[in-house]
Amino acid sequence: MRHLALACLLVLGYSSLVEAQWYDYYKSTAEYNARLDQMLADHPDLTTAISVGTSHEGREIRGLRITGTGDARVAKKQVVYHGLIHAREWIAGMTTMYVTDELLDGYASDTRIQNVMDNVEFLVIPVLNPDGYEYSRTTNRFWRKNRRDNGDGTFGVDLNRNFDYNWGPGFGGSSGNTDSSIYRGPAPFSEPESQALRDLFLDNQQIVSHIDFHSYGQIIAGPWGYTLNNPPLVDILDRQAGIMAASIEAVHGEQYFWGDDTNVLGIANGITNDWAYGDQGVFSYTVELRPESFNPGFDLPAAAILPASEEIFPSVLDLGEFTIQLAAGDFNFDDTWTCEDVDGLYDAIFNGSSRAEFDMNGDGAFTPADVGEWLAQA
Ligand code: ARG
Ligand code: ZN
Repeated sequence: MRHLALACLLVLGYSSLVEAQWYDYYKSTAEYNARLDQMLADHPDLTTAISVGTSHEGREIRGLRITGTGDARVAKKQVVYHGLIHAREWIAGMTTMYVTDELLDGYASDTRIQNVMDNVEFLVIPVLNPDGYEYSRTTNRFWRKNRRDNGDGTFGVDLNRNFDYNWGPGFGGSSGNTDSSIYRGPAPFSEPESQALRDLFLDNQQIVSHIDFHSYGQIIAGPWGYTLNNPPLVDILDRQAGIMAASIEAVHGEQYFWGDDTNVLGIANGITNDWAYGDQGVFSYTVELRPESFNPGFDLPAAAILPASEEIFPSVLDLGEFTIQLAAGDFNFDDTWTCEDVDGLYDAIFNGSSRAEFDMNGDGAFTPADVGEWLAQA
């Protein structure tokens, strides 16, 4: 038996077998951290440890900075993705790790991954809400919030209602009731975990795009959360969501909704996407992972961890390529691409300033359609 097992390992490739095994069951925060250490040890040339903060209960919020070793075509732009801002959405952490594994393992041999990693730096946080996650694992499976002691016998702030963009009772979809699962907290950024994500953005000013992994619903949703009105550049946001949904479907046939269909998520203020897009000029998405509906809902069987994660990886490469392409457009003509170019793009489209070199279809006007064509050929 021993020899047979060894033979199988040799035939199938040792590293990919070990990697698949990690996705056999949902891991603890400690196991996530051990895995991050392993990634750092296995890929010292591609990874750097980051530590973005400390939770209420004193857990370190850890992550990785990942980038390739080759020359960048443009100054390196950044993509952020993270999981487990909501404690009960267990698949979100596993998918975050899987995407990271694929980037690290694919870099040496896959030219598409090489191109993305040589031009983009990824900032990854698998477990943004470790206290809530451990509470969900050990005590209350369906816990959503962090574990702030609200001082009135209740616990927890919904971290995805704690971000400072149109935050508060003036907008729908959050609660001031401490007992609510969507309690927004006493003030925007009152929580160490939301502060950690905020500070990651503030310390890394080349961030162009962002994914906040959640479950469930199979949805790719962008801003806004606080209103059903369309955000600026909605055509560009939707175009990219559609590309990502198509890539996801191509892997295992699962359909992800995007665009107008995402209104099923309803109104929510204080979400990461609104702050990232509205305050930071970062193209920002919520990705609600498998399953599609309430049965099995948050309790996605462990056997689905791998397929649910596999199908997401190409969509992250899509977002990386979008980031590279976008960063090649100096929309405000200051010779560098920063988040302010998003404002430049917005001005060019909506205030009609001339951006002749981006008039791809030659109709004399610069519209989102031109940006689409320009992104497609970059
Ligand atoms: N379902 C998640 C929540 O309630 C995500 C909401 C995100 N909405 C959006 N339009 N991006 O926090
Ligand atoms: Zn969620």
